[in-house]
Amino acid sequence: MQDLSLHILDVAENGIQAGASLIRIEVDEDTRADILEITLEDNGRGMDSEFLAKVLDPFVTTRTTRKVGLGLSLFQQAAREADGDLTIASTPGVGTTVHVTMRHSHIDRKPMGDMADTLTALIEGNPDVDLVYVHRKDGSEYVLDTRELRAELEDVPLNHPSVARLIHDNVESSLKELMRG
Ligand SMILES: Nc1ncnc2c1ncn2[C@@H]1O[C@H](COP(=O)(O)OP(=O)(O)O)[C@@H](O)[C@H]1O
Ligand SMILES: [Mg+2]
Repeated sequence: MQDLSLHILDVAENGIQAGASLIRIEVDEDTRADILEITLEDNGRGMDSEFLAKVLDPFVTTRTTRKVGLGLSLFQQAAREADGDLTIASTPGVGTTVHVTMRHSHIDRKPMGDMADTLTALIEGNPDVDLVYVHRKDGSEYVLDTRELRAELEDVPLNHPSVARLIHDNVESSLKELMRG
């Protein structure tokens, strides 16, 4: 996986697979402290401590389509290559939080990738799951909250093609502006 956005998509999909109704994704870029932090929180079924202890092992999966679960271990490997790490906290019946750190300027730190595409894909594929995306960079902040969108859209579903396009273009232009600083 080339981009962090694809790792984020993968972890968010774990939460959706686990029955979450709300996924919260936070990206925090602090160039002065030279830290890039990513937090993904879901209210899915969670994992017990025994499963959690081995979930970063690539041979652990509850998937039936293939024998290895690579999502979390590959993301951890990417974080470690950039002088950071990935840790998971989970409570059965409550949810799961995945926390990732990286050195922002590290030469091996993967690029963010296309968050507009990632968020649009998540929303289009799971129109009944709510998503909160917070992206901070050096004190500026962008927030997308599908619960607010949903209230404004009334009966129009979040995966209506024109809504999806609107979300995509809003994320794309807002993040571009955030990156310009
Ligand atoms: N957010 C989550 N909530 C509940 N279970 C999870 C979550 N993330 C991962 N898991 C469990 O850990 C396993 C390994 O996840 P992952 O490394 O992403 O591989 P894969 O998704 O391919 O199985 C999953 O199959 C699932 O059982
Ligand atoms: Mg996965």
